[in-house]
Amino acid sequence: MNDIYKSTKSTKISTISAVDQALYEIIQEEMRREEQTLNLIASENYAPRAVLDALGSVLTNKYAEGYPGRRYYGGCQVVDKAELLAQERCKELFGAEHANVQPHSGSQANMAVYFATLNPGDTILGMSLTEGGHLTHGHQVNFSGRLFKSVHYTLNKDTEQLDFDQIRTLAHEHKPRIIIAGASAYSRTIDFAQFAQIAKEVNALFMADIAHIAGLIAAKIHPSPIAHADFVTSTTHKTLRGPRGGLVMCTKAHAQAVDKATMPGMQGGPLMHAIAAKAVGFKLALQPEFAVYQQQIVRNAAAMADEFKKLDYRIVSGGTDNHLFVLDLRAHHLNGKQAEQILESVGLIVNRNCIPFDPNPAWLTSGIRIGTPALTTRGMAQKEVRAIAHLIDDALKNYESTTHLNSIKKEVRKWCTQFPIY
Ligand SMILES: Cc1ncc(COP(=O)(O)O)c(C=O)c1O
Repeated sequence: MNDIYKSTKSTKISTISAVDQALYEIIQEEMRREEQTLNLIASENYAPRAVLDALGSVLTNKYAEGYPGRRYYGGCQVVDKAELLAQERCKELFGAEHANVQPHSGSQANMAVYFATLNPGDTILGMSLTEGGHLTHGHQVNFSGRLFKSVHYTLNKDTEQLDFDQIRTLAHEHKPRIIIAGASAYSRTIDFAQFAQIAKEVNALFMADIAHIAGLIAAKIHPSPIAHADFVTSTTHKTLRGPRGGLVMCTKAHAQAVDKATMPGMQGGPLMHAIAAKAVGFKLALQPEFAVYQQQIVRNAAAMADEFKKLDYRIVSGGTDNHLFVLDLRAHHLNGKQAEQILESVGLIVNRNCIPFDPNPAWLTSGIRIGTPALTTRGMAQKEVRAIAHLIDDALKNYESTTHLNSIKKEVRKWCTQFPIY
């Protein structure tokens, strides 16, 4: 287990217990839940102690509308240093020309880019939600689909991978103002250069949303979009393992527009404690151990997918190149919702997920998404994740037997004790 989880003992929890017993108990309960279950949610991770400490710091007290050196409030000279550190480290980590570390979340990061570049009614081209895209890539229930005319690409039906012929055809037909690459549930390498080429052909801007794979890109395991994209957006809490939050990187040419769209365009005061925590997260991501961690995430996902194949599960697109994969459960006569509930009952936490061209609606789905960032943070390697694949299989095949489920639950607890988080 990495020292960054054990090196400091936070005392803030005991302060909460003195003033608010109810909330203290909720935090303790969540801590127990996290420690006593195995987290296979591809978008989650465990923030290191140092990140938690920054989040719980006095920097939450400071209003700092504006940017370092040009704030709308007095007394910002100290928090300026924190934001500058976060910006510099983010730029160093990804090789970006400009970084805005103020977006409160990944959705806000995407909103900042749209507000910097689009007018209501403009056309955007992104991946459809059911094939693995994100709500903010133009879904009708999201601001992105309500404000803009959104067109979606899907996947190739046979390969279940990105189909650049289809993307090109749609781009030429609809002439979007911006093309969006990136996904929430896509297990294959994304060819950002191809996206950039298509964007160039139709004179569109190109945005890469690397929310899921940011850690892999920082560790140079997945090709970086930086040289190809006008804008790169991300979350900071998934594979990147920082605090919950977002960021936008862009070329110098777009820097002013992005900053203006973020504040005053979309947000007020930045969350300075979160920005400080992002700075800590970036520092940790710049260490050599972080690349080793990312490599292990990918090895673990490949090993687990391989084990599921041996156990006769169909994996969407046939495998994985990154930190996640989606299991198609139709042959096992279960839908995603049932599987999610069965697994949760034994302490295995996954989320239901559409398979490409899913016959089931999004609240039911035909699959589950499995990711390895959190298990890898706990220190697990191939041997352990293969064993966990067997536990998942066992639970899904024997969910009608309470005795069976109870014994799996005990097994899950054993793994949790052997691989503590904090
Ligand atoms: C690809 C992608 N973009 C954006 C987001 C939005 O991030 P947030 O939940 O922080 O708003 C997500 C979150 O799951 C995502 O997967």
